[in-house]
Amino acid sequence: MRRLLVTGAAGFIGSNFVQYWLEAHRDDHVVALDVLTYAGNLSSLDPVLKNSKLKFVKMDILEGERVRALMEREQIDTIVHFAAESHVDRSIHGPDPFLETNIRGTHELLKAAKTVWLTGGGSGPYQFHHISTDEVFGTLAADAPAFTEETSYAPNSPYAATKAASDHLVRAYHHTYGLPVTTSNCSNNYGPYQFPEKLIPLAIVRALEGKPIPVYGDGLQSRDWLYVRDHCRGIDRILEKGRVGETYNLGGGAERKNIDVIKMLCSKFNAMFQSDAGLRSRFPRCPAADGGDTASLITFVRDRPGHDRRYAVDAMKATLETGYGPAESFETGLGKTIVWYIANEPWWRSVMDGSYKEWMKQHYSG
Ligand SMILES: NC(=O)c1ccc[n+]([C@@H]2O[C@H](COP(=O)([O-])OP(=O)(O)OC[C@H]3O[C@@H](n4cnc5c(N)ncnc54)[C@H](O)[C@@H]3O)[C@@H](O)[C@H]2O)c1
Repeated sequence: MRRLLVTGAAGFIGSNFVQYWLEAHRDDHVVALDVLTYAGNLSSLDPVLKNSKLKFVKMDILEGERVRALMEREQIDTIVHFAAESHVDRSIHGPDPFLETNIRGTHELLKAAKTVWLTGGGSGPYQFHHISTDEVFGTLAADAPAFTEETSYAPNSPYAATKAASDHLVRAYHHTYGLPVTTSNCSNNYGPYQFPEKLIPLAIVRALEGKPIPVYGDGLQSRDWLYVRDHCRGIDRILEKGRVGETYNLGGGAERKNIDVIKMLCSKFNAMFQSDAGLRSRFPRCPAADGGDTASLITFVRDRPGHDRRYAVDAMKATLETGYGPAESFETGLGKTIVWYIANEPWWRSVMDGSYKEWMKQHYSG
């Protein structure tokens, strides 16, 4: 039985992970920590908030002393660290919070774990699992092989640079102090509870409202797409089987160009609206509601500076060592995601508050 501290637990992947973990490991105790920035929403934990195995704590990972006391009080033996500033565009316009949370926040957490686990007199076993991104590896040429765990770090955005720095700190705490750590670098996630500023939920919400769907540059940037539930299973496999001190790449085996992602999404919308009169009356502004093509909303906008062209992930090490493998294809995962957003309109309306609208107005016209 584990006693987990999950940081960033009210964010996109963190909330999916907490829900997954409580279903898959019913005896475990989960402390869900989040400071609730614009990207953190307690409503994302609604389905499990009454679960007696879950405790939610509003706390900033920058407050290391409070985190340490919480770890002692709750006898935490496992940390799964998601908390971060995560949006590349925001890191370009204002990098400072990224340095604070992603670098200094991770360091506060490492110090707390070191104090409690290595000098606290407990017996363990303990594990600090750090969630990172494939963006630390930089960009790939069109014909280059996918990133492996041996690929050199070459982060290109302030976001990626801060994640790279946090990866190095995690590694250093293992090599210097013997902290039991593992790290996973995963590709682009999508699925339920993703804040509608990232490509797929943004496109879904804009399509439902009949608003332009912004696509950067020529739309030919290529990403590997991982359904969030598969990511959660992958982290579970690493906690179970991963070797201490190692890093593992996690991917969806689904490399797609941004424009192809949006086109697939639009054609799914067209088919769903055609066969469902209820959808047509709920979302009359979507072009598909009166037989039009949702793809007519696609609007190319000025590319963001330094936009990486291609990421692709080789997840063979995780597969061989932990049995990791995604269950969803991109087609099935995207279908589930669209269905979830249609069924959970109150969730996405509630998170799109004033600050979100202000951000959209500044950065995307239409
Ligand atoms: N979303 C992706 O596609 C993706 C891909 C690879 C890696 N990752 C990594 O996965 C992790 C989670 O990403 P996400 O998409 O769920 O992000 P998110 O932005 O949806 O959630 C981040 C959460 O962290 C919380 N948080 C931020 N600063 C905090 C602080 N100082 N103290 C406590 N909580 C704080 C926020 O309130 C939010 O709930 C991040 O570390 C990110 O780098 C994400």
